[in-house]
Amino acid sequence: MIKPDAVANGHAGAILDRIIKGGYKIVAMKYTTLSADIAGKFYEIHKERPFYGELVNFMSSGPIVAAILEKDNAVEDFRTFIGATDPSKADAGTIRADFAKSIDANAIHGSDSNENANIEGNFFFSQFERF
Ligand code: PPS
Repeated sequence: MIKPDAVANGHAGAILDRIIKGGYKIVAMKYTTLSADIAGKFYEIHKERPFYGELVNFMSSGPIVAAILEKDNAVEDFRTFIGATDPSKADAGTIRADFAKSIDANAIHGSDSNENANIEGNFFFSQFERF
């Protein structure tokens, strides 16, 4: 998911370009705005964490781009490709190093396991929206 900060700052196109050039195939994609209720459900796993309310507010603050990507070893490679959660610790050349400003507005989300990639893909897309 390209997060509201990156979309609002006009970086969605550049980020998608990097993703495609990085060898990821986009098999589904949508541009939408999450309600607080939907963002809260997406991040439910973090609901006990102190930043949950802020995270939900931020993620419902403006449009996002959700996508399902395909590549060998996609989940693990994509986490490396986007860089550390805190952009000040992200490796040079990663998406967060180049497009994110802070840990709470960090430009992009990548699923953290194959299991969660399936759950999150199903969260955003019906079977008719992927190819
Ligand atoms: S991770 O990437 O899941 O290992 O990182 P984690 O630290 O567990 O963070 C989970 C998600 O919460 C976001 N996050 C925060 N939001 C607001 N404020 C603070 N302080 C904060 N710290 C972490 C972080 O960006 C993760 O969101 P996603 O969308 O999964 O990247």
